Amino acid sequence: MSGVNLAVLGATGVVGSEILNVLENSSIPINSIKMLSSARSAGKKVTFKGKEYTVIETTPKEFEGVDIVLASAGASTSKMYVDDIVKAGAVLVDNSSAFRMEKDVPLVIAGANDEDLKMHHGVVANPNCSTSQLMLVLKPLHEYAKIKRLVVSTYQAVSGAGKAAMDELRAHTEAEIKGESFETKAFVKPIAFNLIPQIDVFCDNGYTKEEMKVVNETKKILHLAENTPITCTAVRVPVFVSHSEAVTVEFEKPLDVAKTREILEKAYGVIVMDDIENKVYPTPTFTAGKDPVYVGRIRKDLAFDNAISMFVVADNLRIGAALNTVRIAEKLVEMKLVRNA
Ligand SMILES: NC(=O)c1ccc[n+]([C@@H]2O[C@H](COP(=O)([O-])OP(=O)(O)OC[C@H]3O[C@@H](n4cnc5c(N)ncnc54)[C@H](OP(=O)(O)O)[C@@H]3O)[C@@H](O)[C@H]2O)c1
Repeated sequence: MSGVNLAVLGATGVVGSEILNVLENSSIPINSIKMLSSARSAGKKVTFKGKEYTVIETTPKEFEGVDIVLASAGASTSKMYVDDIVKAGAVLVDNSSAFRMEKDVPLVIAGANDEDLKMHHGVVANPNCSTSQLMLVLKPLHEYAKIKRLVVSTYQAVSGAGKAAMDELRAHTEAEIKGESFETKAFVKPIAFNLIPQIDVFCDNGYTKEEMKVVNETKKILHLAENTPITCTAVRVPVFVSHSEAVTVEFEKPLDVAKTREILEKAYGVIVMDDIENKVYPTPTFTAGKDPVYVGRIRKDLAFDNAISMFVVADNLRIGAALNTVRIAEKLVEMKLVRNA
């Protein structure tokens, strides 16, 4: 028996299905793979590498003999099974917000802070989708010029809220076009032909939890000082896939547009798509289904002294979740930080 034993926890969800797509072309030597869900989907069939698998209801014993659990089943599910997973000797690569800010849990964007994986104690967290795409862009710029201040506004796709949210955008849009009434369920306000400046619940400081995830996770991943000024406004928009972000970043060291472009052109996982004369810049429908993070509209910011503004777009289900999850698993294997690697 050689290779790694995997379990995909939440295999029937939006992110879980995408994890399986990405895994099809992964370098991980897979010995076995298990598809786990709740009782609702147990018995359903899922195809992976041309073979049909029966989805199994998650119970603690399902983690015995598993080396890596790729989880996208929500924070409460991850919390419910983390002890069983660690006890079974597996590493949990978790997509939920359950453990991201815990001190002994590395929060990793593969290619940005792989070294942090070495301090794992059985759990590695995948950042929130809006933070994820930002990190591959900011890390190389921060290495060169040191981030002083960061302002982010997000335009987030409904797929970030799961399958039910995608179904609601489609159904609501059709209802609006036909002039029929529609009862909003998956969102706090109507989403069709609208946008919603609230993602997740509000915190005491007037920011939403989603906005504070960008603030706190960015500091943790880039190892920024706790008092680094970062602000975020997160908005849900009627787009199916790909989050867009208007980003303004002020630096300690001088950094002009040409150097920014040069750095980003060489950056891991990033593609510069920036030619305004020919109306070339990234959009959500263009980036959907693609792996890289695309950056356009790179310009000198007019409000801050030594700052760059840009537009960052990426598939939230790929780099924001599934792709990074699989890349983390690949790194764990490459760096021999899991059993059977
Ligand atoms: N969508 C994104 O862009 C994105 C990005 C980053 C992180 N995430 C995170 O990833 C997680 C999943 O998101 P999603 O969009 O894929 O949601 P989703 O489409 O609703 O899928 C949820 C999955 O979790 C399973 N599940 C739910 N409760 C369970 C339980 N008690 N035990 C075992 N399995 C259970 C579901 O199984 P059933 O089929 O049986 O219900 C389903 O497979 C969330 O934590 C979300 O915050 C999502």
